[in-house]
Amino acid sequence: MGTGDGRLPLAWARETPERLFIGVDSNAAGLRELSGRAARERRSNVAYVRAAAEALPAELDGIADRVTVVLPWGSLLAAVALPSMAVLRGLRRVCQPAALFTVVLGSDPSRDQVELRRLGLPPLDARTLGARIAPGYEAVGLRVAGVRVMSAADVARFPSSWARRLAFGGTRVFVQVTARAV
Ligand SMILES: C[S@@+](CC[C@H](N)C(=O)[O-])C[C@H]1O[C@@H](n2cnc3c(N)ncnc32)[C@H](O)[C@@H]1O
Repeated sequence: MGTGDGRLPLAWARETPERLFIGVDSNAAGLRELSGRAARERRSNVAYVRAAAEALPAELDGIADRVTVVLPWGSLLAAVALPSMAVLRGLRRVCQPAALFTVVLGSDPSRDQVELRRLGLPPLDARTLGARIAPGYEAVGLRVAGVRVMSAADVARFPSSWARRLAFGGTRVFVQVTARAV
């Protein structure tokens, strides 16, 4: 969800041909290049959907055994980190029972201060998030299993363009939230 240019689902689709990966983003222009590449590769196990997390198509209801959100920004970041309940509920709708819901957050406490404040977000460190998100997740049917600090090397293991761009250098703090649909 919030797949950006769609590199992550394409990389996973190449690695695991027997599973279907769906990349969703509200910005269709960003998806153009790699969705074209997936089509040229005749890769039948990856699909892209232009949709906002706020208005996911009903066709995605209950489809996923995993939902992964890597380095979200804007309203998607608020959805998973505040959390904003209506949008998080929409993300939960996509999940099958017991689906794994993973979020990777990255922020620079001083450089991202203005944006975090605009979104009404606290500092995105593991302790602050761990202390506040579980009730909101639980209310939409997502049980938080862990909120942990990630190293840059952990982040770089996600084959997405932004993970590779942001993992090294800078003073970014990375946190992984793991939850299960219940
Ligand atoms: C920093 S980029 C990360 C992209 C990708 N996950 C990666 O790691 O390369 C954040 C993405 O979230 C998407 N996004 C932000 N708000 C969204 C929303 N409400 N619904 C869907 N996508 C959203 C943006 O369009 C953008 O592509």
